[in-house]
Amino acid sequence: MKRVITYGTFDLFHIGHLNILKRAKALGGYLVVAVSTDEFNLIKNKICTYPYRDRAAIVEALEYVDKVIPENNWEQKVDDIKNNDIDIFVMGNDWTDKFDFLKEHCEVVYLPITDGISTTEIKNKLKK
Ligand code: CTP
Repeated sequence: MKRVITYGTFDLFHIGHLNILKRAKALGGYLVVAVSTDEFNLIKNKICTYPYRDRAAIVEALEYVDKVIPENNWEQKVDDIKNNDIDIFVMGNDWTDKFDFLKEHCEVVYLPITDGISTTEIKNKLKK
């Protein structure tokens, strides 16, 4: 069994989120998900609809997810990989090449994202 990690905000949980977590789990067998904290989102100028506690609880309840950790900053990834004995770092292919610097620590895989849906798009639709 390989150990996989992925990162995200997972606000207004949607089918694109579910699909990537399902694929990430299938790649390895043990899946760690780092969910961005509200404090980290503020740094990124991102305001979530649901607070960290709720976003993390939803992700943690999924059968594909074995462990949830908080994502507090941009720099923690190497420590997360080491502390969780990670074999594969996974992100959606909207991030292709961005995390290649982690290849010295583990395998880096960009998975296809789901077309036509994102949290931003849902928010925009609801505003109309
Ligand atoms: N993701 C995906 N398919 C989508 C949207 C997101 O596979 N349609 C993946 C992203 O590539 C990432 C993970 O889901 O690996 C978490 O993404 P996140 O940024 O939380 O979701 P978005 O819906 O893209 O949110 P936003 O619109 O705020 O960027």
